Amino acid sequence: MGNIGSYEEKYKNFNWKISEQELEYGKDGMYNLAYYCCDRICEKGNGEKLAFLWEGFKGEEKKFTYQDLSVYSNVFAKYLQDLGLKPEDRICLFMERIPELFISFLGVLKMGGIVQPLFSAFGEDALFTRLEDAGTKAIFTTRKHVRKIRRIRDKLPDLAKVIVVNAGDKPLEKDEVAFSMEDAPKPENFELYKANPEAPSVLHYTSGTTGKPKGAQHVHASIIAQYITAKWALDISPDDIYWCTADPGWVTGTSYGIIGPWSNGTTQVILDSGFSSAKWYQFIEKHKITVWYTAPTAIRLLMKDGTDAVKKHDLSCLRHLISVGEPLNAEAVIWSKEAFGKPFYDSYWQTETGAIVITNYPGMEIKPGSMGKPFPGIKAIVVDQKTFEPITTPGTVGLIALQPGWPAMFRTYWNNKEMYDSKFKKGWYICGDRSSIDDEGYFWFVGRDDDVINTGGHLVGPFEIESALLEHEAIVESAAVGKPDPVNMEVVKAFVALKPGFKPDADLELSIINFIRKKLSPLAMPQEIEFVKSLPKTRSGKIMRRLLRAKEWGEEIGDTSTLEDD
Ligand code: PRX
Repeated sequence: MGNIGSYEEKYKNFNWKISEQELEYGKDGMYNLAYYCCDRICEKGNGEKLAFLWEGFKGEEKKFTYQDLSVYSNVFAKYLQDLGLKPEDRICLFMERIPELFISFLGVLKMGGIVQPLFSAFGEDALFTRLEDAGTKAIFTTRKHVRKIRRIRDKLPDLAKVIVVNAGDKPLEKDEVAFSMEDAPKPENFELYKANPEAPSVLHYTSGTTGKPKGAQHVHASIIAQYITAKWALDISPDDIYWCTADPGWVTGTSYGIIGPWSNGTTQVILDSGFSSAKWYQFIEKHKITVWYTAPTAIRLLMKDGTDAVKKHDLSCLRHLISVGEPLNAEAVIWSKEAFGKPFYDSYWQTETGAIVITNYPGMEIKPGSMGKPFPGIKAIVVDQKTFEPITTPGTVGLIALQPGWPAMFRTYWNNKEMYDSKFKKGWYICGDRSSIDDEGYFWFVGRDDDVINTGGHLVGPFEIESALLEHEAIVESAAVGKPDPVNMEVVKAFVALKPGFKPDADLELSIINFIRKKLSPLAMPQEIEFVKSLPKTRSGKIMRRLLRAKEWGEEIGDTSTLEDD
């Protein structure tokens, strides 16, 4: 671990300027983060270095150097300009994990656009909500997903262009254009958009308890935090082969699947394929992966297949393992030591924080089950749930609160300043998670402070699921809650009351499950439907999810005095 030095010393002496100086951020007035992810690496003489190796689900491979990254991102940027797109236009990426997804991310930023990555498994309703909210001007997609866009196109007056990558031979419809990265003209020189550090860059949609998903809007200066956290917390260097298993539809896949590794000049590998332990181990062995960033759900799936599956492979290449997205249970840390000879290090952050804020810093003693300590430059505490005053007694549970001002922090929720403002109390940014801090400063995650469901490290909003359920012809009332699951931590369970004339049977259950999968996504799809006569409500008519959730978790129900009838 050559990168990092002792935690205490780094924390004490830290200043974000350290990162700015290493990046030479702002050199010649250049603040556009895309420049630092490819062009700068080339200017430093590393253009021939491999930026990424991509492997598709059939085992096919493609390789791109930093020079390729630089040239092809210019291709995207110029193409968008020629289509008439302007700086700050929202440009959505809605593709599976093909090379174009990663490169277009930089391309959009190079022409000053705001890049809006969305998970390609989203169905038409999930897609519509996010495109409508952002007033998205153009969308990159592939042939596989274009049908979903066609079904909602009429309702999206701002969406001027649908750009179909690898369009094939079938004809396209009006305002759809076919695009091939390899065949498109390569501009000799492309003049990057002179973004200022506070110019909007990435718009990531994330779910809350109430209302529609919210677009967390980031700025170009976020790279100052993403670069140094990738270097120090993930411990990557230009000599590493790095694998981040997250999809860029989610923030981990952009902050640490694009910006972090590439600004560090690291080679990364990308696997566009579903999960299988044998496949993953083969992938690690074949590419001699040294640093691996994944999620507890994946680790639990690997645990299910046991250490024998690990022992069939030579995984001695692995040097550092990090986890994100959900609580990393102590057993997973202990198992990983047995299986890989090293523990998984935890890292905690959010779409809104843009970068890791609490982590088991390399070299620090790990307490299995704890998330570690604040990253240098981050002041994190827990505050009282009602008064928002700092809690000073070790071991007392409170809300995680961060002192605002780190570079990767979101700057607003798109079109929703009020919601953004509501996240701040007494000068602290309130993450919405509960934790305690022990007498040595380690954070111990307890749970979320809202009804958002974390399934396999992905947040899904109950409100979005409930609204979609109400679109089903049989349903009159609905509630969605998380129920415990041994692998995914939580899965969605829906409670529904039916309209007269509908029978609560297995066929209807299947029809509802499929309905949600198609409209929203496989993640939001309920794993179980419970038919009820009516749902518990407060006197003002609000459905009490808390009560339904507590039952699923076998928890105390708490104060029910506001219940309608009980
Ligand atoms: O509840 C916390 C959980 O995931 C939430 C953030 O989700 P999202 O915005 O989708 O970003 C995911 C990738 C950073 C948090 O509010 N979470 C994230 N990391 C951890 C975690 N819960 C426990 N332990 C973690 N390490």
